[in-house]
Amino acid sequence: MMTEPGFSLFQITLQQRAAAVEDLLSELLSDRPRTGEISRPSRLMAAIRHGVLNGGKRLRPFLVMESAALFGADGPAALRVAAALECIHSYSLVHDDLPAMDNDDIRRGQPTVHRKFDEAAAILAGDSLLTYAFELIASEETELDALARVTLVTALARAAGVGGMTGGQALDLEAEKNQPDEAGVIRLQAMKTGALIRFACEAGAIIGNADSKDRQRLAEYGSAVGLAFQLADDLLDVTADARDIGKATGKDAAAGKATLVSMHGIEWTRRQLSGLVAQAEDLLEPFGQKAVLLKDAARFIAERQS
Ligand code: IPE
Ligand code: IPE
Ligand code: MG
Ligand code: MG
Ligand code: MG
Repeated sequence: MMTEPGFSLFQITLQQRAAAVEDLLSELLSDRPRTGEISRPSRLMAAIRHGVLNGGKRLRPFLVMESAALFGADGPAALRVAAALECIHSYSLVHDDLPAMDNDDIRRGQPTVHRKFDEAAAILAGDSLLTYAFELIASEETELDALARVTLVTALARAAGVGGMTGGQALDLEAEKNQPDEAGVIRLQAMKTGALIRFACEAGAIIGNADSKDRQRLAEYGSAVGLAFQLADDLLDVTADARDIGKATGKDAAAGKATLVSMHGIEWTRRQLSGLVAQAEDLLEPFGQKAVLLKDAARFIAERQS
């Protein structure tokens, strides 16, 4: 593929993958009821679309597609799994922004769902996205054998649930009151952010019917990248401009939240991020040239400015 001047192959591929997942999501999340549905309330659908089709970076879908590509499996089934994961991620942001949680007004550069609609709409939009994600994977329209679909549903449920994202969110809110130690912060971050990113990478191996060794390797790559992702998020909360990242900054310090950045400072965090990128790259070594975009992704996630 030719790269356009000024854009790397990674950036172009990220954009193409994002456009593909957005096209699928806008088709699936239209007002038109799908088979077996009674009707689709139009205000709820508008709130859902506002929470999803609003310019996220789409990094998790990219990780699903590129991990699947290692096994030659980045086709329509992988795209549906990628879209399902973006539904779960978007729901987690809609609920994370609610007044009972982080109480944020701006997300992805626009008013949060509860600000544009209301809290009930934001809660129900999140609930709908969460449920829909599982339908999307389990459906026979996802062209994978039944065992692969069940394996994906089980892994995603674990990553999104009490031992993963929602459990991590609970620990994160507790951390505003009782400061955890360093191991506690790492654990809560591995849960609230790491689990879904680890799933993204492991999902590619499941879709591609990889052997257990490769699946484990991708899951470990996902864990390293997941930790880097939240470290970078916490760093941006301190260093970035709200206009550039499309959400409020300075929130963690204002909430008295312990993060690795608050514990160790900015320079330590940057060194830690470099170490995690190196670790992620090492894990991909056996895949050779095929894994070059996943290596770029690790660096992008660690060094991202938004
Ligand atoms: C933000 O995730 C929330 C975290 C888990 C740190 P992203 O930075 O991926 O947000 P979007 O999807 O690009 O808006
Ligand atoms: C959110 O973490 C993680 C999830 C939504 C699971 P943050 O609260 O740090 O994310 P931002 O900074 O609001 O995007
Ligand atoms: Mg939060
Ligand atoms: Mg938040
Ligand atoms: Mg944050």
